[in-house]
Amino acid sequence: MNTKLYDHKPAQQEKLAAIGLQAAGMAHELKNPLTCIRGFTQLLNERLGEGHERTYLRYIVDEIDRMNSIIGDFLRLARPSAPDVNRVNLNNLISNTLALLKSECEVAEITLDKRLTSLPEIRCDGDGIKQVLLNLIHNAMDAVACSETKMVRVEAEVLNADEGDNGVILIRVSDTGEGISEENLGQLGELFFSTKPHGTGLGLAISYDIVKQNGGQIDVHSRVGEGTTFTLHIPVHHTVEVG
Ligand SMILES: Nc1ncnc2c1ncn2[C@@H]1O[C@H](COP(=O)(O)OP(=O)(O)OP(=O)(O)O)[C@@H](O)[C@H]1O
Ligand SMILES: [Mg+2]
Repeated sequence: MNTKLYDHKPAQQEKLAAIGLQAAGMAHELKNPLTCIRGFTQLLNERLGEGHERTYLRYIVDEIDRMNSIIGDFLRLARPSAPDVNRVNLNNLISNTLALLKSECEVAEITLDKRLTSLPEIRCDGDGIKQVLLNLIHNAMDAVACSETKMVRVEAEVLNADEGDNGVILIRVSDTGEGISEENLGQLGELFFSTKPHGTGLGLAISYDIVKQNGGQIDVHSRVGEGTTFTLHIPVHHTVEVG
């Protein structure tokens, strides 16, 4: 079993800061021309009759949207905005997040399983935690793509519920996918590490930052050929920090 507590190394924090500066500038420079290209492409699309050309134009728009989302990811790392802290019912948050992925999983013939228990409401950045879940579940869905059994499970429970400030909520995202080799597990904390042809390698870095802002941590257990489990540990009581 390969196990890793997912963390940024100190040198990486500096790298993050440098990337942050570049990203803010780059995003500013790229967003406007991209919006312009997207607009003209859509205009052309409307003027052309059905045919190959329209399909190609749709590909262009899709790829522009992908570029925009990569820029958005950079910005998220570059300028962590003040988290929107609210009282959050994590069971509802998990159910709503899974509902968003239902049809995507059906198309890919993936069983999406949910095992919830009674959880206390906590104060945290609900939108951030939702983004983490989406990132982890998308990774799990990618991992099971070629597996015989395609199952992604999300479980939640509370540990030390009676110990006041020491209570911790655990959310596990597990899959029956390809697993992660020991060598790759060692690289999970690195920015831009991706084994996917179209991967950016930012999903986990962003997830780690969000969970850290909420006072928590992420660990991962994996067995090659059997599957992987990412576990979020989120304290029940925590003052949410920015940055
Ligand atoms: N559940 C998983 N099973 C197997 N490998 C995984 C899993 N989750 C992450 N990985 C590995 O970790 C790498 C980094 O994941 P991360 O989410 O950061 O980037 P990505 O998915 O490649 O790209 P993106 O930035 O679009 O999310 C993946 O490319 C994959 O090799
Ligand atoms: Mg990912």
